[in-house]
Order: sequence, then C-alpha cells, then structure tokens
Amino acid sequence: MQMDNELLALFPLTAAAPGGQIHIAGQRLADLAGEWGTPLYVYDAATVRRQIETLQQALAASYPGETEITYAAKAYFSLGFARKLAEMGTGVDVVSLGEMNVARKAGFTPGSIHLHGNNKSAAELAAALDATVHAIVVDSLDELAFLEDLATRAGRKARIWLRITPGVTADTHTYRQTGHAATKFGLPIHNGQAAEAIRRARRSAWLTLTGLHTHIGSQISQTAPYAEAIHRMYALARQVDFCPIEFSPGGGWFVRYTPDDPIIPISDWTDTIGAAVQQECRQSGWPLPKVIVEPGRWVAAQAGVALYRVGACKPAGDGATWVAVDGGLADNLRPALYQAKYAAVLAERADEPATENVHIVGKYCESGDKLIEGVYLPPAKRGDLLAIPVAGAYQLSMASNYNLGGRPAALWLEKERVEMLQPREEVIETRWWVGD
Ligand code: LLP
Repeated sequence: MQMDNELLALFPLTAAAPGGQIHIAGQRLADLAGEWGTPLYVYDAATVRRQIETLQQALAASYPGETEITYAAKAYFSLGFARKLAEMGTGVDVVSLGEMNVARKAGFTPGSIHLHGNNKSAAELAAALDATVHAIVVDSLDELAFLEDLATRAGRKARIWLRITPGVTADTHTYRQTGHAATKFGLPIHNGQAAEAIRRARRSAWLTLTGLHTHIGSQISQTAPYAEAIHRMYALARQVDFCPIEFSPGGGWFVRYTPDDPIIPISDWTDTIGAAVQQECRQSGWPLPKVIVEPGRWVAAQAGVALYRVGACKPAGDGATWVAVDGGLADNLRPALYQAKYAAVLAERADEPATENVHIVGKYCESGDKLIEGVYLPPAKRGDLLAIPVAGAYQLSMASNYNLGGRPAALWLEKERVEMLQPREEVIETRWWVGD
C-alpha cells in the first residue's frame, strides 16, 4: 500500500511517506515528535520559499508595474520565522507593537513594514512614526485626526495609506468578511467617509498619503469580489482626483485544506488584480501604481503540519470512534470558530487502509473542542502519532493557554537541519500563573 496521493498533496512540498512513515525535509515525523514532544508544529522551509517564489512569478506575469509581497504576520509569526521571511526579502504587515518589535528585531527594514489595525494605540502609532515605517494604514477619520495630532507633536511626517471599505461581500465565513458595509474595518465608500479621509489627508502638512488599501476578507476562492473592490476604489479615487502611487488589494487568497477543496492557481488571483488595476489606470489616464499584496495564509499554511499524540479512544454514540489527542482547541481554534475542515493521517501508518470513521477531539473542557468530525483513519490507538496538514496559518498565532496548558513548540525544517522557531511553553515556567 502507498499513502493516498490526494492526502500527500496537502502536506508540504518535501513530504514523502516511505513505508507509511511520513517524512518532511528528509526527517521522519515520528523522530521529531519523539525528540521534541507533542503537540508539535513543524514548518517546511522549502514550502515557504516555493510559495513566495510562485507568487512573485505570478505577480510579474500578471502586472507590468512594480509589485511587492508583504507577509501578513498575524498568520504566524515568531522571531525565527520572521528572520526567515526577512531573508527571503518580503515586506511585513504588522498589527501590534509586539509584531512590530519582532519584525524589527528579525531584520525587516522600517521601509518594508506596514502598520495595520482598526484601533492602533498611541504607543503603536508613536513607534511607527519613530521608526518611519513604510506606511501607517489609517482605518478611520478618528484615527486620521489622532495620528495627525501625534505626528504634529512629534514633529515627524507620517507616510500613510487609507484602508477603504468598498462594500463588497466576499465568499467566505462571515467572521472573515471585511469588505462589506457592516464591517468594523476601514473607511466606507458608501457614506462618504473614504472620500472625506482622502481630502483631509491631502490637506495635512503632517500626513503624506501615498496609497489606497483594502482587505476584503480571508480564505476567498472567487476573483470577482477583488475586481469589484478595485473598480470601486478607483471610482472613488477619480471622484476626488487622487492618483495613488501605491495600491494594495490586501491578502485573503484561498488555500486547500482537504482533498475536497478545489485546486485554484494563484494566477487567477494575480491576473484579476493585475487586469483590474491596469484597466482602471488606462481609464483614468494615470500611471500604474506599485501593487502590494499581503498574503498570510497563502505563505504559511501549507508549510505547517501539526503533530499530536493519540490518547483515549472510545466509541461515540453515532457509531464512529472518539479519538482524543493531546492538543486541540487551544492550539487550533479554527474548527470551533469557523467550522474549518481538516484532513488527518497517522504519521507512522500512512500506507494502511483508512477503514475507521473517527471524530478527532482535543483534550480541552469544551464540547466544541473537535478538530475533525468524521474522518477515516486506520484503526487508531493510544500512542499513535496523528498529523494534520495545512496547519501553518492562524493556528499557533491564535493559540491560547486555556485550561492553563502551555502552547506547543514549533520547528523550522531545512533539509537535514532543525531550528527552533518557538519553544514549548512549560506550565511551570509561567510564573504569572503560580505567582512566584
Ligand atoms: N491584510 C490584512 C489587512 C488582514 O487583516 C489580513 C488577515 C491579511 C492581509 C492576510 O489575509 P490572508 O492572506 O492570511 O487570508 N483567523 C482567520 C483569518 C483571519 C484573517 C485576518 N486578516 C482564519 O483562521 O481563517
């Protein structure tokens, strides 16, 4: 028997399963779990590099103007991971002082940093002004005034973009839609706030408006909402006669999590963006802006694999089997929060027939702590190693200490080399819990 190719394709680029033993970057997952413990997250270096190179090539083929990839740190960030991305030459989108500090320490130049957020603090804005980051992405008229005041008092000019809410609803979970009229993010076009912000920013002596930005949501598989958002933003720009020299349609492109998900080339996304921006510039008689895309999931998701040790197994009421693992909702909130679907494989028995219908659950005290409801595995037993692919984005970055557990370790896998991205949090090390 061989491991199902459909499943193997979800794993990182370097994954192989000789004799049913899954390897990544030439390293057996069972050895890594034995040495570093579980739950364990591993990131394949080759996959991160491939994603970035593929996107760079797609952008170059889709758009004749200048382009840049700015990684959305919220998908996954740690000092080690940030250093790798800085070496690969991406920019970075940060949303907090924490992410900004990590980015700076990892070697991102201020000119490669964008600060986002719908409620940036005075400290975050002051740090961005002080560092002279590439752009502070202003989210509201309130923030525009707040930043102008801070910039005036600091005697420092702020380079800004405006985050525009185009009134476009993307095809994704409602919690991930951010371009529609009812979102908390951005300056809406429909009620005139976006136009007003452009006028005010251009009048300010302390703000330099260089670009327009939107981010319409995440895990989006249709291109039409992107085209529509771009058309609406340029219609706005023409209305106030503002020619952006930088333009960002955000991130949000789709990633496959299970074999049932469609295969969609990234060029669908870049072609749509490239064509829409060019069409609008032709129509306006404006030069092409630099296009800056902000992928998070697309860079990090497929590179990551989550490894869990199977513990208690017992019959479930519906004829399936409960298979409990040593992690769950605290390291992966996505199934509970967005009903996200995943695939799973036994990492040392990947070639065995998947004959048993199981529900994979975590160890946390929540009925919603179900990683996968209804998946076929070879009959699983205590001690087996379970691998969940496409675990690299919005899992560790959203992890918690629920039930006072420590968050998992993460490793970076180069061929035959392992680097620690983040150490396992040991409960006894967390002094603020035990008070000494
Ligand atoms: N730019 C901005 C301004 C964003 O807010 C985000 C994501 C991105 C770029 C990157 O989006 P991506 O390419 O990763 O889709 N926790 C959710 C996803 C939340 C996305 C938040 N913003 C999930 O696990 O599905």
